[in-house]
Amino acid sequence: MRRVLKWVGVTLGSILGLLIVFVGISYIVSSSELSSTFEVPTETVAILTDSASMAEGKYLATAIGKCVECHGGDFGGKVFIDEPIIGHVAGKNITRGKGGIGAEFKVEDWVRAIRYGVKPDGKGLVVMPSEDYWYMSDEELGKLIGYLQSVPPVDREVEEPSLGILGRVLVTVGALPLFATEKIDLKATRPAPPPSAPTAEYGEHLTKIGGCIGCHRPDFSGGPVSAGAPDWPPAANLTPHTDGLGSWNEAEFTTALRLGKSKDGRALNPEAMPWGTTALMTDDDIHAMWLYLRTVPAKETGT
Ligand code: HEC
Ligand code: HEC
Repeated sequence: MRRVLKWVGVTLGSILGLLIVFVGISYIVSSSELSSTFEVPTETVAILTDSASMAEGKYLATAIGKCVECHGGDFGGKVFIDEPIIGHVAGKNITRGKGGIGAEFKVEDWVRAIRYGVKPDGKGLVVMPSEDYWYMSDEELGKLIGYLQSVPPVDREVEEPSLGILGRVLVTVGALPLFATEKIDLKATRPAPPPSAPTAEYGEHLTKIGGCIGCHRPDFSGGPVSAGAPDWPPAANLTPHTDGLGSWNEAEFTTALRLGKSKDGRALNPEAMPWGTTALMTDDDIHAMWLYLRTVPAKETGT
């Protein structure tokens, strides 16, 4: 009996020991991952500040680019992941106020942050979906940055991102990709955006810069959202498959994006599916996305 107990003790002790070593390794790996630096192109764009461009810039920051989801409606910064075991992540204050980056950012710093997810010192921006914003054209960035430079300054300090114990383990095993910049093909040429019109081609562009591909996957088959909170439902399948929007009509699609209601009337989780921003999209833009989503191959829901 004593022998058995001894073995149980030794086994439990070894498992605990291994766990401690693994968590220790996770701290080292994830800390070095958090401080990795990236080399990306330095680019600038012409800033557009006429009133039509400013209005479009605002539309890009809210309805399309969803910057408000993570940076707050006043762009002064907002905590959007606060799970002690996973981590604490806040979108930066991007205004000219105290604690904000707006006062010192040059145009190329804005472009590097939005397009490549990288800070002026080369460090990566945690969780910001730049792999989707990479598709924004120079003209779109010129309007977006022009608008963001004009927003009223907000004095607010937000904490630097930090990881909890599970967050560190997930980063170590590669299950929690931190930096958009690692997903960007720096050698690819950016496709020229089609003219803004209610067409499937323009709809495709909107599904990219609007971040739909980031959560619903580039083939729109949906599935768990890797950068989402643990209680988020999987992203819906948006392809014309029966698992997806196969039996939907355009009015139902519009209702989902405007009122956050699924075809069966179920309320969509507003944090997981940011319909507060898609609600601001114009009829033409929603129509364009609908036209495009009807053309993508029908697929079973991703896993
Ligand atoms: C899913 C959340 C999310 C969205 C959406 C998002 N951001 Fe961010 N952004 C962040 C986080 C988090 C940080 C801070 C990351 C860090 O410090 O590592 C950040 C930082 C920034 C910075 C500061 C860069 C620096 O060097 O400190 C800028 C500029 C920025 N975002 C612009 C934008 C713009 C413009 C949009 C919309 C087109 C946008 N972000 C959308 C999460 C987001
Ligand atoms: C931050 C992640 C995220 C982004 C960005 C996002 N979605 Fe979603 N979407 C989700 C999740 C998660 C669900 C499922 C929500 C639920 O079941 O409560 C969803 C649900 C939906 C639904 C409802 C489908 C159904 O079966 O009920 C539609 C339609 C939809 N999204 C379209 C879009 C479009 C179009 C875009 C881009 C403009 C987009 N989403 C951007 C995560 C996202």
